[in-house]
Amino acid sequence: MDSRFFLAFSLCFLCSFPLFARSANRLPKLLLDDTKTEDSVIRMKMDGSSIKIDPTRVVQLSSQPRAFLYKGFLSAEECQHLIDLAKDYLEQSLVVDDITGASRSSTDRTSTGMFLYKAQDDIVAGIEAKIAAWTFLPVDNGEPLQILRYENGQQYVPHFDFFQDPVNVAAGGHRIATVLLYLSNVERGGETVFPDSPAKVFEENKDLSDCSTTGYGVKPKKGDALLFFSLHPNVTTDPTSYHGSCPVIEGEKWSATKWIHMLPLDEIWRNPDCVDENEHCSAWAKAGECEKNPGYMVGSSLGSKEELGYCRLSCKACSPPS
Ligand SMILES: *[C@@H]1O[C@H](CO)[C@@H](O)[C@H](O)[C@H]1NC(C)=O
Repeated sequence: MDSRFFLAFSLCFLCSFPLFARSANRLPKLLLDDTKTEDSVIRMKMDGSSIKIDPTRVVQLSSQPRAFLYKGFLSAEECQHLIDLAKDYLEQSLVVDDITGASRSSTDRTSTGMFLYKAQDDIVAGIEAKIAAWTFLPVDNGEPLQILRYENGQQYVPHFDFFQDPVNVAAGGHRIATVLLYLSNVERGGETVFPDSPAKVFEENKDLSDCSTTGYGVKPKKGDALLFFSLHPNVTTDPTSYHGSCPVIEGEKWSATKWIHMLPLDEIWRNPDCVDENEHCSAWAKAGECEKNPGYMVGSSLGSKEELGYCRLSCKACSPPS
């Protein structure tokens, strides 16, 4: 290995793992010369603090879909912190029925989970800033982190993260990319799998479960981050981004998901224009939810921004943009 690369890598390793930093005073002085890292670390200023991204820890896994793995993106402390914030608030993960629009549990998605708030505390804000620095996509375009726990046998069958209904697409709300943060190691199973990717099984992973070898499998490793794009650079949807979470066979899987959209979330979720802000609005409207649940669907009639509902277009509560 090029010794300069090794120096830079060693130093970055120390930076990213504060636990080990105490041993730094045993290293030769040369290793502590900060100027040696400048070539391999991207630094970004975020609200006064400095975020460091080390591209030498990133490997490209596949080009269909465009998928990248950042090894050691989170420290063990950051992983534990996210789990601690979520563990008392987990609820059955739901899917929304495409026909009736009702939320329901499904054998397709058997995990439990919850959403944090954006920038819920300094550590969460730091992680969100680091994701933005790595992906070069703005913090504002990210949904809050969703924390998920998969116990024995639990899974999420393959699905797309981009929207398939025309209203959300027209509103510019498409999800561009997804970052999956692995918060725990899983003894067996629990891989992220891309069944339709032509890429081969990730070569470093010799002990993948059968489910993940049906396509391209990524074994969860505590602290690693997987980034994949749901849209091509020409902003058409990429069908090879179809992905799922394989059943956990042994152990327990904790992960955090960051969905990143084309527009800032404020604009998508609270858009004052006459649009739907949820992909299931038209199905919900057909099922009579505009009448049954007007507060959510239409909002109050006072018209202030906070009181707008999420399905104004499908409920015909306004005129669509010309
Ligand atoms: C967009 O890019 C993808 C991937 O390169 C390509 O397959 C597709 O034909 C392109 N679509 C358009 C409309 O340019």
